[in-house]
Amino acid sequence: MNYLEDFNLKDKKVLIRSDLNVPIKSGIISSKKRIQASLPTILFAINSGAKVIVTSHLGRPMEGHFTEEESLKPIVKYLSDYLNQDVRLITDWIESPFQVDSGQVVVLENCRFNNGEQENDAELAKKYAELADIFVMDAFGTAHRKHASTYGVAEYSDCACSGILFSSELKALNKVMKDPNHPMVAIVGGSKVSTKLSVLDALSDKVDQLILGGGIANTFLKAQGFEIGKSLCEDDFLTSAEKIIKKLEKRGASLPIISDVICGKLLTEDEPAIIKDISEVDSDDMIFDLGKNSMDGITKIVQSAKTILWNGPIGVFEFKQFSNGTELLADAIAKSNAFSLAGGGDTIAAIEKFKVENNISYISTAGGAFLEFVEGKKLPAIEILEKKCQS
Ligand code: 3PG
Repeated sequence: MNYLEDFNLKDKKVLIRSDLNVPIKSGIISSKKRIQASLPTILFAINSGAKVIVTSHLGRPMEGHFTEEESLKPIVKYLSDYLNQDVRLITDWIESPFQVDSGQVVVLENCRFNNGEQENDAELAKKYAELADIFVMDAFGTAHRKHASTYGVAEYSDCACSGILFSSELKALNKVMKDPNHPMVAIVGGSKVSTKLSVLDALSDKVDQLILGGGIANTFLKAQGFEIGKSLCEDDFLTSAEKIIKKLEKRGASLPIISDVICGKLLTEDEPAIIKDISEVDSDDMIFDLGKNSMDGITKIVQSAKTILWNGPIGVFEFKQFSNGTELLADAIAKSNAFSLAGGGDTIAAIEKFKVENNISYISTAGGAFLEFVEGKKLPAIEILEKKCQS
């Protein structure tokens, strides 16, 4: 694909599709991570003397219906302060032309307010394309969406390229999924096998060790014949779990041995944590974390890995008494010399909680797009950028 850094942007109009989809409550942005990750591309364009137009979605509003909660206003305020310039929010760009000078930044209001955005409407996509000389796709978090601002716009632009964040995300994911150094270890946590079945299936073709957490781990434990009591589990996916275990075994790969677990009877903040051998789980127990012996084994696996992919916590890390497994895992990944890639909302929350941000090789800003890439799907935004480069 074409890369932003390869163009002379001086006095050119540049439309950057960023992913500025950050959590906002009562006008206050609670995590600015995605905005900060988008800044290198915006700053590169400003410093190159481009006329910069930024577009992004926020949340999932109904098209054609403006709501104050889904307006990009707080983000524009942050950008104005950070960039030390009066960044304007353009609300009516489809009808009224607007001016932007070299070195200046304007932001278009939430692109999901526009009719036709999610259907990748050709007329809307052409209007985006007409705004600029160069289209820059930087919203890796929405690379799995075939929308007017992520796909159609690239199709109709004379020149479309990847932004700095987009390229970094792609490089990190390719390093892990296409050309990993072995041993490769993947950690997949989360409540349901059903939502990550394709991810588990794809990883079971690649990894040397597959470490599981949460409800996913319980379903696999049950498939292996262990009593898991009332733990979160998907009985409909026991056969899928068995197939994945067999596939791993056939390749000489494996799941770590789970010898002990942390149980409780209720998922509440003050529920006592009871450590049990995996063979002693009672029919009214719920597994909320892994025990010390299980984690010792997992730590050793992580220590010997050369590539680590982390998506999802080990236990209910939000509650102190069930957070030890995830903390030990975060610590082991942070201390490892492997190339480590982490992605997903819960994973990032755990990384922040256990303060290991600076010791993970790459933390992805993407959620759904990250998982679809790992599944092996061709993401529409990647597909169109590659096609544009060939044409
Ligand atoms: C995300 O939050 O993962 C991205 O911003 C994409 O948002 P979406 O799932 O609403 O397309």
